[in-house]
Amino acid sequence: MAVKSQSPLVITVIVGLLALGVGLVIGYLLRPFKEPPAPHTSADQLWGIEAADDDKIAALDMLKDCSHLARENAVISKHLLENDVEACRAVTCDIPYPRTYVIYKLRGNDVIDLDGRLEDKAWKDVAWSDSFIDIQGREFPEPRLKTKVKMRYDYRFLYIGALLEEPDVWSNVTLHDGPVYQDNSFQILFDSRQSNVNYKEITINARGIVADLMMTKPYVDSGEPLQFWESDLVSEVYVHGSLNNPNSEDEYWTIEMAVPFSTLYQGSGASMNRSTPIHDETWRANFLRAQWSVKKRGTHYEKEKNSGTDWWGLIQFQDAEINSTHFMTSEKWVATNALLDTYSALQAFHAVTGRYTDRKELLHLPPYVFSGKCVDDISIKLDWSGFHVTVKPKGGNLEDGHIKADHFLWFGKEDMQYF
Ligand SMILES: *[C@@H]1O[C@H](CO)[C@@H](O)[C@H](O)[C@H]1NC(C)=O
Ligand SMILES: *[C@@H]1O[C@H](CO)[C@@H](O)[C@H](O)[C@H]1NC(C)=O
Ligand SMILES: *[C@@H]1O[C@H](CO)[C@@H](O)[C@H](O)[C@H]1NC(C)=O
Repeated sequence: MAVKSQSPLVITVIVGLLALGVGLVIGYLLRPFKEPPAPHTSADQLWGIEAADDDKIAALDMLKDCSHLARENAVISKHLLENDVEACRAVTCDIPYPRTYVIYKLRGNDVIDLDGRLEDKAWKDVAWSDSFIDIQGREFPEPRLKTKVKMRYDYRFLYIGALLEEPDVWSNVTLHDGPVYQDNSFQILFDSRQSNVNYKEITINARGIVADLMMTKPYVDSGEPLQFWESDLVSEVYVHGSLNNPNSEDEYWTIEMAVPFSTLYQGSGASMNRSTPIHDETWRANFLRAQWSVKKRGTHYEKEKNSGTDWWGLIQFQDAEINSTHFMTSEKWVATNALLDTYSALQAFHAVTGRYTDRKELLHLPPYVFSGKCVDDISIKLDWSGFHVTVKPKGGNLEDGHIKADHFLWFGKEDMQYF
């Protein structure tokens, strides 16, 4: 009897596992790689997936002082059994930040002489970023060759300085907008509005050849790379050693770039009419290094064998005394996460049922989204394009946030266009 009544369950579980398997395979095939990954290549990035352990420790610390609060709240307390960390977060609204870097504005008569060397006082005055980590995550071994960056800005340009340790500096691509990522290269990604649309990718090799493009959307959302976008940057590379000479041991190469804000803001929201960042403005960014294994063959280097990221850190512009400030947090961060989490829940619902829904209770939303403590209100409207989610941030001095089924996220008027 017991066996009989369990068999539909067993079949459901098997079908479920098979569906999960197929889902994993499809997910694997659709993952955001530009190029099929081949052996003997490595890629490092500044900001990557954090080790799960850090998260767990932070979560346990948080639990110590908030579970009584969660218990007092009727809407949230029923989530305590299911997921105490999420229930707690619904009261504390403590949504973890990714890694960050504060960019200080140039002061007085500070100048950056674009010669590829990072010797200007303006560079010496500011801290390096962390060293890059393996693109597969923090639990993978630290890259053998260090990479780190610094940034400054003035009213027209974002300045980026990078240092890449490298015993064998080589570079083959010589054409602007050519396949620069097929060389050992340094890449920057900027999403100036944290909007997921029209973010910028600039890649440079040791010859100083640049490929710049605008991604209409992330690769996972079948975004397209628009090669015609031009960053109009000024850049210079310095090689400490000798380029394309396997008979000499090199030490490093450094890069200096000045990228105009006017091009970095392009296409990220029509009414976003700005050509210079305001104090505390925060962008999503990441920095990557593609590294190919090469063999030394006589007078040239030969390649034995790149990848993309959908991981972002945050950079913040500050017009303040160097080192006198920290990264400033904002209610916008919680609202942005509430939008992204609702987006994911709607897409997950769609994957199972083939449709979207405007009924929040049917979605697997983390409780901070609807606890009323972290955002004032969140609403879902269904429309011809799929859905339109609107969030009212806490505090009342921020504009409403929105996200649509195509992943476009913005704060401001309901009918914003990104071109
Ligand atoms: C700011 O901090 C960095 C890193 O600690 C240090 O190297 C730099 O000298 C400091 N700058 C100033 C102006 O104090
Ligand atoms: C955008 O900026 C230009 C030039 O500064 C100005 O003329 C125009 O009115 C602005 N548009 C909006 C929508 O703010
Ligand atoms: C660079 O190009 C040369 C000439 O085509 C080729 O022989 C060499 O293998 C290339 N180097 C790498 C590392 O791909």
